[in-house]
Amino acid sequence: MKSCHHTLLLLLPLTTSFVFQSFTSVAGDHSGSFYETFLKCMSHRNSSDRVSSILYNPNNSSYTSTLQAYIRNKRFNTSTTPKPIIIVTPLHQTHVQSTIFCSKNLSINLRIRSGGHDFEGLSYVSYTRHFLLLDMSNLRTIDVNITEETAIVEVGATIGELYYRIWEKSKVHAFPAGVCSTVGIGGHISGGGYGVLMRKYGLTVDNIVDAIIVDVNGRVLDRKSMGEDLFWAIRGGGGASFGVILSYKLRLVGVPKTVTVFRVSKSSGEKGIDIVDRWQYVADKIDRDLFIRLYIKPNNGKKTMEAEFTGFFLGDSDRLVSVMNKGFPELGIQKNDCKEMSWIESELFWSSTDKAPVEVLLDRSLFTSHYAKRKSDFLQIPIPRDGMESLFRKMMELRVVGLTFNPYGGRMSEIPDWETPFPHRAGNIFKLHYGVNWNEEGSELAAYYVNQTRVLYDFMTPFVSKDPRGAYLNYRDLDIGVSRVGNNSYSEGKVYGEKYFKGNFDRLVKVKTMVDPGNFFTNEQSIPPRFDSRYRRMFR
Ligand SMILES: Cc1cc2nc3c(=O)[nH]c(=O)nc-3n(C[C@H](O)[C@H](O)[C@H](O)COP(=O)(O)OP(=O)(O)OC[C@H]3O[C@@H](n4cnc5c(N)ncnc54)[C@H](O)[C@@H]3O)c2cc1C
Ligand SMILES: *[C@@H]1O[C@H](CO)[C@@H](O)[C@H](O)[C@H]1NC(C)=O
Ligand SMILES: *[C@@H]1O[C@H](CO)[C@@H](O)[C@H](O)[C@H]1NC(C)=O
Ligand SMILES: *[C@@H]1O[C@H](CO)[C@@H](O)[C@H](O)[C@H]1NC(C)=O
Ligand SMILES: *[C@@H]1O[C@H](CO)[C@@H](O)[C@H](O)[C@H]1NC(C)=O
Ligand SMILES: *[C@@H]1O[C@H](CO)[C@@H](O)[C@H](O)[C@H]1NC(C)=O
Ligand SMILES: *[C@@H]1O[C@H](CO)[C@@H](O)[C@H](O)[C@H]1NC(C)=O
Ligand SMILES: *[C@@H]1O[C@H](CO)[C@@H](O)[C@H](O)[C@H]1NC(C)=O
Ligand SMILES: *[C@@H]1O[C@H](CO)[C@@H](O)[C@H](O)[C@H]1NC(C)=O
Repeated sequence: MKSCHHTLLLLLPLTTSFVFQSFTSVAGDHSGSFYETFLKCMSHRNSSDRVSSILYNPNNSSYTSTLQAYIRNKRFNTSTTPKPIIIVTPLHQTHVQSTIFCSKNLSINLRIRSGGHDFEGLSYVSYTRHFLLLDMSNLRTIDVNITEETAIVEVGATIGELYYRIWEKSKVHAFPAGVCSTVGIGGHISGGGYGVLMRKYGLTVDNIVDAIIVDVNGRVLDRKSMGEDLFWAIRGGGGASFGVILSYKLRLVGVPKTVTVFRVSKSSGEKGIDIVDRWQYVADKIDRDLFIRLYIKPNNGKKTMEAEFTGFFLGDSDRLVSVMNKGFPELGIQKNDCKEMSWIESELFWSSTDKAPVEVLLDRSLFTSHYAKRKSDFLQIPIPRDGMESLFRKMMELRVVGLTFNPYGGRMSEIPDWETPFPHRAGNIFKLHYGVNWNEEGSELAAYYVNQTRVLYDFMTPFVSKDPRGAYLNYRDLDIGVSRVGNNSYSEGKVYGEKYFKGNFDRLVKVKTMVDPGNFFTNEQSIPPRFDSRYRRMFR
């Protein structure tokens, strides 16, 4: 088994500022009767269905395997992790409609899970409320239409399955999304989505043409019937604040038959730091057919830092070498560093599964999960040379945290900040991704690893974006703020909301107030509705 992302935990993800609410009284000793009541509600609405076959309570023998099937972070796979009272695994949209209706009727918090990769487990854990898990993994049809250059993808599909189904029909089409094949469509697209085609084609959400959502009233809406405000919100604002998304319609993009990749490492002993420094000045300006990811980590044995440069180029190796010689000669890329391949093979290369057949993209549990913690930042000016030296020293001292640098520029700089909820566009040189993975059990160890990421994050403060300090929703991080589930207030939501969405936060609040004024769709970092006079004026 392999692990997908680079890199090297906290059992309770909640910061001290978190306000605990008492559990509501729906379950506890009455979980049996709650199940019966819920089942009755579901059956009443769908009498012809054998609804009980998609409703699991903790007494059902397959409850645990159903719950664990899409837990992707060991931090949330422990005996003390709060568990859902009921799991629903819908087989068609009417089950989703009924689940929303009955959850609302019985006042239970709903968690929506597609691929389960949320870095804080918010899709299947609620720390302060009894909750029901709506697991979308059975809804995963993918329909690719090459004539129209579109695909309709249900949320339970993975991006690996999507890539495979596109490749089956065309070798010159692709879709700009993430690099880890098991990531789910539902969370990935609603939260933004980026990958190695970002500099050429923008984010995943820049390539969406329609969507189907079930709203709080159980209505099934497409782009036309939901309206442009809600359609805007679910392209980067996070799905879980607005409804249950069933599918997205995507616009495919073009790729050449041959693409080229390289992966080279330098250590701080071999002028690695000069090349890392240089990367900051070229990676966002170089030809947009080229994406060079940089990953730096301490080599504890050798007491050095290692920098790994991974390149992806929409063209052959001759042109790549010439682009590199012109724009980034310091890395010294030669033709024999390059590997030509098809786009689909490059997806395997990025997942470090390049020796495997293309069919591994269909393997929904391809990777081993670890305990993991992530954080994110955006940089608008390069880290100065002495800062880079101190960063290298700090990371060697901390030993366990890796940093991934993802270059911006190209198409990313052309799309206005307000076009989608994702606001970190022109002016950003790169996004930083903090990562630590570990395998040893124990809450003290977890606290240690998580603390290391926070220490590095604090250390980075002078170098990164400020007022607000930016963050990426799909790198979910509860350290940056949480609000009260069910009663998320505007002022609490603004703390994390402006980091994720900057000036777009207020428009998300407006959409939320319009489509879910009762705040049924709620979690620790959801968008709050707002009802003060200023907002009432807005809706008049
Ligand atoms: C190994 C790994 C690699 C990654 N690589 C990348 C990458 O290359 N690029 C990138 O951009 N991101 C990447 N990510 C982050 C990833 O995009 C997010 O974690 C994403 O939200 C996962 O989607 P999911 O459906 O798997 O997650 P889930 O945990 O199922 O959902 C995430 C969030 O979306 C909500 N949600 C899910 N489905 C729906 C729905 N149908 N309707 C409404 N709300 C919904 C959930 O409630 C939750 O809040 C990676 C994550 C991991 C763990
Ligand atoms: C599980 O079984 C126990 C013992 O039979 C019962 O008391 C309880 O109500 C059941 N729980 C549910 C959710 O059905
Ligand atoms: C399930 O219930 C919903 C809501 O009443 C209804 O629209 C739908 O047709 C029902 N589905 C089936 C399969 O009976
Ligand atoms: C779970 O158990 C209940 C009885 O408690 C049963 O009616 C239901 O069909 C079971 N669900 C599944 C998915 O097996
Ligand atoms: C969760 O724990 C179970 C054992 O209880 C194990 O089989 C499964 O692989 C674990 N999953 C993750 C993601 O840790
Ligand atoms: C729940 O449904 C019942 C039966 O339809 C209805 O009488 C009741 O008012 C509903 N409660 C809520 C909170 O919606
Ligand atoms: C693809 O889309 C075109 C144009 O809308 C349509 O005519 C055709 O039937 C579709 N093909 C498939 C296989 O759905
Ligand atoms: C976090 O790490 C820093 C530096 O390594 C250390 O000084 C601090 O005590 C740690 N805090 C906790 C809570 O472990
Ligand atoms: C929600 O929060 C507001 C502001 O903090 C508070 O006044 C109100 O009482 C809370 N409502 C509930 C239902 O908890």
